[in-house]
Amino acid sequence: MPDAVAPKPRERIQGRGSTIAVVGLGYVGLPVAAAFLAAGQRVIGFDIDPEKIACLARGESYLRHIPETEWQSFAKSENFVGTTDPARFAEADAVLICVPTPLGEHREPDLSYVEASARAVAKHLQPGALVVLESTSYPGTTREVLAPIFSNAGWVIGRDVFLAFSPEREDPGRVEPRTVDVPKLVGGLDLVSGELAADLYRIAYTAVQPVRSAEVAEAAKLLENVYRAVNIALVNELKLILEKMDIDVWEVIEAAATKPYGFQEFRPGPGLGGHCIPIDPFYLTWAAKRVGFPTLFIELAGEINTAMPKHVVCRVQTALGDEGKVLEGARVLVLGVAYKPNVDDTRETPAAEIIARLLDEKAEVSYHDPWVPRFPRMRRYDLDLESVPLTAEALKEFDCAIVVTDHSAIDWDLVGEHVPLVIDTRNAYGARPASGRTASGRTVRARVVKA
Ligand SMILES: NC(=O)c1ccc[n+]([C@@H]2O[C@H](COP(=O)([O-])OP(=O)(O)OC[C@H]3O[C@@H](n4cnc5c(N)ncnc54)[C@H](O)[C@@H]3O)[C@@H](O)[C@H]2O)c1
Repeated sequence: MPDAVAPKPRERIQGRGSTIAVVGLGYVGLPVAAAFLAAGQRVIGFDIDPEKIACLARGESYLRHIPETEWQSFAKSENFVGTTDPARFAEADAVLICVPTPLGEHREPDLSYVEASARAVAKHLQPGALVVLESTSYPGTTREVLAPIFSNAGWVIGRDVFLAFSPEREDPGRVEPRTVDVPKLVGGLDLVSGELAADLYRIAYTAVQPVRSAEVAEAAKLLENVYRAVNIALVNELKLILEKMDIDVWEVIEAAATKPYGFQEFRPGPGLGGHCIPIDPFYLTWAAKRVGFPTLFIELAGEINTAMPKHVVCRVQTALGDEGKVLEGARVLVLGVAYKPNVDDTRETPAAEIIARLLDEKAEVSYHDPWVPRFPRMRRYDLDLESVPLTAEALKEFDCAIVVTDHSAIDWDLVGEHVPLVIDTRNAYGARPASGRTASGRTVRARVVKA
């Protein structure tokens, strides 16, 4: 049970000389920690993974979009402390929770990471501190899940602990705008909590957008990701329809995008990936069920998007068939296994299902990804594969290549020069001639089939 109210954390936050604990130093937490370090604050980086803490202490960044040189200067400064010891939360004026929020077996929210970290924080926190949940979750999580953990530990919310929600809009791999230039939504459980959280983020972020409540901030984050999931599903469906009409969906999108208003461009692909878009919409589905509503758009989008890997494999099968070949025994090269270009993140990547389906059909599958040297073990897949080098000699051995992720570092001309058939799910060959000489003077021999 905490002692009397101590106003110190609020004064230190408002005086911009605070200590901030970031809980969970992953794709979201590490950039947040870096943002506050860059703003001259003291940061306690907490993670249950001792390897991550050791790595950071050595000055090494495990996220490619946080350059090692930048992290080295933070690690060397006295402002960063990396720890696995929850007792150090006692030093924090503010605690930002950035732990995973996956789905359970039946697509229900799995808040076990949020609950475990909140319990550890509630045990050690100093009176007057601010706690902000940054992990994506359904509207009501901060009030219904986080707050009781603190009340049960003896804290009076809005008096000796302040609670807020601030969704993370991090887009791994994106250089512009920088994390700190993306407006930061902030909603408190009460007025004072909301204001204190806004004061905190103003230290490091250029634009802070306070909203009326934690629930508004929670729902806004889900709206952003549902909007993407539904629109990606729409263009994926359109791709299937236009394919049958022999019309190139990419050309159609490019044409529609010339309209200066009322249209936003979304691109089709081999299926959804990453920790957000395939997962977050189902947090809303779950919450909607509690109030007796079905989420028809979300369910339909999920159905269309999850069918894409199967569609890609069917296109491979048909395209090989056109050449008198079958998938069984065919040598297939998957290009890119990260879920999107120029990142090393393979979470929920559609490449895993595409490869698994090809293997089921007894194809001989290899992959090349300059960002992913070894295919990591995933929840549903354990593919024992390593990235193969991309050389002219190696490429000549393949019957077909599938573009799953259009990393900029892949030499697309080299692939087109030496592989007879390319199944292109990303329009990587869109700007290149179907055959003939490319800008680099090479000859594209491959038959390119869009999928
Ligand atoms: N990855 C993204 O692009 C992105 C973007 C916006 C929002 N989000 C949301 O942010 C949250 C975090 O996602 P992420 O991508 O950073 O996940 P991540 O898996 O990259 O990182 C999570 C970190 O939390 C640590 N962790 C797990 N349990 C812990 C505990 N009890 N205490 C302390 N640390 C713990 C893990 O070891 C890991 O380092 C999720 O809710 C996600 O939906 C992610």
